[in-house]
Amino acid sequence: MVESDGPDVSACERCPALVESRSRIVNGVGPEDAALLFVGEAPGADEDAQGEPFVGRSGSVLDDALRDAGLARADVRITNCVRCRPPENRDPHVAELDNCAGFLEREIEFVDPDLIVTLGKVPGERLLDRDVAVTAESGSVVDARLGGASRRVLLCLHPAATLYDRSQRGAFEAAVAKAADLVGATDGGEGGQSRLGDYR
Ligand code: URA
Repeated sequence: MVESDGPDVSACERCPALVESRSRIVNGVGPEDAALLFVGEAPGADEDAQGEPFVGRSGSVLDDALRDAGLARADVRITNCVRCRPPENRDPHVAELDNCAGFLEREIEFVDPDLIVTLGKVPGERLLDRDVAVTAESGSVVDARLGGASRRVLLCLHPAATLYDRSQRGAFEAAVAKAADLVGATDGGEGGQSRLGDYR
């Protein structure tokens, strides 16, 4: 059974292994009209327990980078390619990503963000439908047809990468700061002027 309400999914049993491993479906959080939409891979143990994306150690790294960029977590929308925790935190299988893809498409269409930021290789490759060298490409902005329109996508490292390799922290923070700058968030919130047209 699949049930959904706006960008949220209230019931889904398409992926038997994930139905088994999850405690709950973890929907996106943040304003439904956010200018910035961050897309991760799949919930981990903390997210599964709390029902919110990026609330564990990776979430702390993301929150810190947002704060340094002049943004609060509540200013942005945060979601995942897959809404249920994979067993033992394994990578989601292609079939699971496929099963959840329509939910992400609908969320993108519903939120209609000015910029999508992909956190890590998996969301980058899913949304761009090509191989992504995420370390080399972090911070680059590309166009992709998503949620019924052409969208700007900023590729970014996964925050967990900075936990394994502290030297990646600067590149991660720079990409988040660039995202904030592109949507005008660093020019004083609502008064800010989006500079998305200036970047490729
Ligand atoms: N990693 C992700 O990709 N998503 C989360 O929600 C948490 C960790």
